[in-house]
Amino acid sequence: MSERLVMMNQRARPTFKWWVQDVVDAVLHYPSYLVERHIYERPSARYRKMLIRVTGFDKLAADCEILSRDGVLILPGYFTGEPLQQMQQDYNRWCELKSGSDRYGFKDFDGGKQESYLATSYSMSKVAVGPYLTALVSYYWGKPIRLAYCHGYRLDPIEPQEYRAFRWHHDLKRKQVRVMVLLTDTPVEGQRMDYIAGSHRVWHRFTNHRQCRFTEEEARSYGSPIHCVGPAGTVVLFDANGIHRGNRNLGSRRDQYTFNYTAGRALFPLPGLHPEVVKQLTDRQRRMVRIDDDSRNLWTRFRHWITDRYFLRLW
Ligand SMILES: [Fe+2]
Repeated sequence: MSERLVMMNQRARPTFKWWVQDVVDAVLHYPSYLVERHIYERPSARYRKMLIRVTGFDKLAADCEILSRDGVLILPGYFTGEPLQQMQQDYNRWCELKSGSDRYGFKDFDGGKQESYLATSYSMSKVAVGPYLTALVSYYWGKPIRLAYCHGYRLDPIEPQEYRAFRWHHDLKRKQVRVMVLLTDTPVEGQRMDYIAGSHRVWHRFTNHRQCRFTEEEARSYGSPIHCVGPAGTVVLFDANGIHRGNRNLGSRRDQYTFNYTAGRALFPLPGLHPEVVKQLTDRQRRMVRIDDDSRNLWTRFRHWITDRYFLRLW
């Protein structure tokens, strides 16, 4: 599969020549490519335009351009003051409640373990429905999004180690946007995440975890790494189809919480949001965080899809 072909997905308005070549390659080599890249993952230029009009966020297009180009966007010090302090306090409380960590000094919250730590934090739950961040993710997708997965973890300093996600890899779910909130300062020499710029556009073939891993040399053949660093409160958005890795070392302790968004696929059980936040949600936001969404019948779900995608009135 040519690089030119795999890069087309990010173009909201591809040229006719690219489209024809894409279809020929796709039919010959990857039947699933048509559905994944040209329908599910393809952003709608019309939806993007509507989103800017509805939200009034002029910066969306510029920020999304960086995210589309590199696969990663760093918003240094996005959260400050009271909201950040509340998140840090809640996170420390979780860490006190949950004793022990694994042999790598790794302690995690929510994720696939049917825990509900997020639901106990008002400030952290607000991030999941934050107007600008969710508008940015929706703009990147070019269609309505769903909260797919939530996971937080604390990394204590350890001797450098390479294991699991702390080596070059891409995630198994293809296009998905992760909104990662750093709750502690993350310097370059610390336990930072690295991301190979531009690697999110590659259509990887894989059938198991091992095929998603890369050596240092292989990873760098796709591009240069970007160090995802910043002060506490920094938000890192990235497409987890791109090649990335965490780093374990003797740098300072790292706390983070991550929200994954997709356009409706790769959905996992959620930890729930704080009851006070749930009370404030609009109908569209309730659908976005999948409250009541699964229990509705097909006709209702279709009506909501049309409403969110074509007749969006408020953000
Ligand atoms: Fe990953």
